[in-house]
Amino acid sequence: MAKSSTILALLPFTMILLCTQGALRYGFYSESCPDVERIVFDAVARKFFKIPTATAHALRIFNHDCFVEGCDASVLISSNGTFRSERDAEINRSLPQDGFDLFLEAKAAVESRCPGVVSCTDVMTIATRDSVYMLGGPRYEVQTGRRDGLISMASRVLENLPQASQTIHEVINLFQSKGLSIADMVALSGAHSVGASHCREFMSRIYHFNQTHEIDPTIDKDYAMKLRATCPDKGLDLNVMAFNDPTTPWTLDTAYYDNIRKGMGLLATDQALYSRRETKNIVEEMANDKKVFRKRFGEAMNKMSSFGVKTGTEGEIRRDCRVFNQ
Ligand code: HEM
Ligand SMILES: *[C@@H]1O[C@H](CO)[C@@H](O)[C@H](O)[C@H]1NC(C)=O
Ligand SMILES: *[C@@H]1O[C@H](CO)[C@@H](O)[C@H](O)[C@H]1NC(C)=O
Ligand SMILES: *[C@@H]1O[C@H](CO)[C@@H](O)[C@H](O)[C@H]1NC(C)=O
Repeated sequence: MAKSSTILALLPFTMILLCTQGALRYGFYSESCPDVERIVFDAVARKFFKIPTATAHALRIFNHDCFVEGCDASVLISSNGTFRSERDAEINRSLPQDGFDLFLEAKAAVESRCPGVVSCTDVMTIATRDSVYMLGGPRYEVQTGRRDGLISMASRVLENLPQASQTIHEVINLFQSKGLSIADMVALSGAHSVGASHCREFMSRIYHFNQTHEIDPTIDKDYAMKLRATCPDKGLDLNVMAFNDPTTPWTLDTAYYDNIRKGMGLLATDQALYSRRETKNIVEEMANDKKVFRKRFGEAMNKMSSFGVKTGTEGEIRRDCRVFNQ
């Protein structure tokens, strides 16, 4: 009896210990690398003033990282002669190099001050937050303490990423499998307020939607004609892209939601947010209130940033983000 009550009394203490050991927290590097956030911000700002689009590319790369094996910098691993890594999953969907460079430059700046201490994953998390800020989005606080993963396989990518060809139902299920709600999904889709998409991602909507409709009836007619001019059906240059948000292409703002309201969502999955009551209501709310968007986007980014993370003694602190430590 006495023995079991001692165990019971110790239980909360043990549980707290276990939790803090394996959890993210604010200021994880406050002693080991106190300036990490400023060092990363300076690197991101330098990149932004040289190549502004690198920040949007970094945001997309971070999304891909978190959805495949959890946020663990597995997307930064390079392929070698015998082994194809995540970032090379499908050559046609290739992620832009300048986005990778943004993360690698931030990590190099951190390594020169605090060698071997800060994970590539935490650098990515902070640098993505700062990229969002440079693009005019909200600045949210991030927790740290992530470690870098030991798996990066091209074959694991496709099934874990949302596709523009998926139904809204499939997209919702995928986000839910990553711990993200419908409201989080609609908020995170606001990332499509910046950057661009290749014509092939939306061509069927403007040329051969189905047997009775050449053009997707949910798309605004003028917008469809402009997209046709950008993406000719015959002799298409496969590298051509259209802005995700034709109104304010490089500002992370609520214009994305307002566009959807007007039939100017670029990808089928963007416009589909307006096709069901629940997601449509959130689109309206976001379009009408910048403050609500900024708050929800920050919260959802934080939620995504903690999905599937490795902490404590899991994984490693990679020195070179492109290769596993030997
Ligand atoms: C809701 C499901 C989503 C789908 C179906 C989707 C799909 C796509 C596709 C097909 C592209 C164009 C890629 C290309 O042609 O190179 C794209 C671009 C982009 N996505 Fe998403 N995405 C989704 C969610 C997200 C999320 C959650 C984020 C980040 C939080 C994000 C960030 C971006 C960015 C920034 C771009 C522009 C990249 C550039 O300019 O090169 N996406 N997305
Ligand atoms: C390729 O990468 C894998 C995984 O990091 C590693 O096990 C293997 O030794 C590498 N091969 C070469 C030739 O470097
Ligand atoms: C990439 O695009 C080319 C040209 O459209 C196509 O022939 C090829 O099958 C695509 N590759 C993949 C892996 O989708
Ligand atoms: C084509 O799409 C429209 C709009 O979604 C729909 O009303 C129509 O039934 C579809 N036609 C065929 C042949 O599937």
